[in-house]
Amino acid sequence: MPADHDFTVTPYAVEGDVDYDRLLERFGADALTDEQRATFPDPVHPLVRRDVFYAERDLDPFLDAANAGETHSIVTGRGPSGPMHLGHVLPFYFAKHLQDRTGAVVYVPLSDDEKYFLKDQSLAATSDHVRENMRDLLAVGFDPERTRIVVDTADADVLYPLATAFAADVTQSTVEATYGAPANVGLSFYPAVQAAHLLLPQLVEGRHPTLVPIAVDQDPHVRVCRDVAGKRRYDVAKPGALLSKFLPSLAGPGKMSSSGDAPDVLLTDDRETVVEKMRTHAYSGGRSSVDAHREHGGDPTVDVPFLLLQYFFEADDERLERLAREYREGSLLSGELKDIAAEQVADFLEAHQERRAALGPLEEELPPFRLTERERVEARRRVGYPDDALVQQ
Ligand code: TRP
Repeated sequence: MPADHDFTVTPYAVEGDVDYDRLLERFGADALTDEQRATFPDPVHPLVRRDVFYAERDLDPFLDAANAGETHSIVTGRGPSGPMHLGHVLPFYFAKHLQDRTGAVVYVPLSDDEKYFLKDQSLAATSDHVRENMRDLLAVGFDPERTRIVVDTADADVLYPLATAFAADVTQSTVEATYGAPANVGLSFYPAVQAAHLLLPQLVEGRHPTLVPIAVDQDPHVRVCRDVAGKRRYDVAKPGALLSKFLPSLAGPGKMSSSGDAPDVLLTDDRETVVEKMRTHAYSGGRSSVDAHREHGGDPTVDVPFLLLQYFFEADDERLERLAREYREGSLLSGELKDIAAEQVADFLEAHQERRAALGPLEEELPPFRLTERERVEARRRVGYPDDALVQQ
């Protein structure tokens, strides 16, 4: 960690106690304003309303287009490093929430190359994770007319020419200044691939506002992409970003979801398992004994079960406020709050699991979500790659 920084945030390392406000100064992004929050389509999603998404870059053009019914798109991807857990899937449900309300086009890239470069994980294992993750992404219920799923290695006919075009505009010293020294040349090149993801909607559909809702550690990718877009070699606007704080793991708020020793809630967990994990592992803002809790009350602001309800699972403001009040007063016990949160998480997971189980084989489900031939040709053409460059079989 550089000496003047007591915390580090890059896509590849989060260390120290993250100061979210100082991070914005460091990254040069802006805090989300109340006016912007209120401009999101109704009902405003809890992740926006309740300060999980807390910062932005160029959000207004996206909101304007969304509210005016003009073309607007969202890019939200997944690094297939293993099975998806609860925290991983929430951004996709957020994207679907917007798609349902405004008709946003949603692009979902899976960066199997990135995770192969980053993890000690075989290509075969990565490919298994891609297939499993894909089923979870399909279970979210996106509209196939307005959603495109791409995989870096499987859609290389499009993504490689795009990444090649953009890589020429990213220097090695930019990569090192932005991410630290990359572990291998794959990771050195990867920012150009993620730039291809973030510009893909505009390369397919023409110039329009794009929003990338992501955890703040991914912002470096957005910055590199915005620099590339700013060179104006291609007719694209800089993609906007909606940056979130890290969702709490069961081990406690402020920690990265993959750290700590508490187990994650998996998308495959049944109700009993969710209740057990919540009761045994969820960090509580309650007192150490029932008597002390009844007398002094608990602190919902650090209580993971409460935060889960606040951030995603309880949309009703009045009910949430009542739970907070009863918890502070001590009439609601931490075990009771854990059970309430566990039941709501389990309801959500059951619905997700039912949709997932109802899917047919990937070979049947995926094709409507893949780029069409015309879309592939368009995207390549917009970076200047000729239509006849590929030898037809
Ligand atoms: N790099 C992201 C991760 O490690 C995954 C990702 C790939 C992504 N392309 C993206 C996220 C585009 C948002 C937008 O999790």
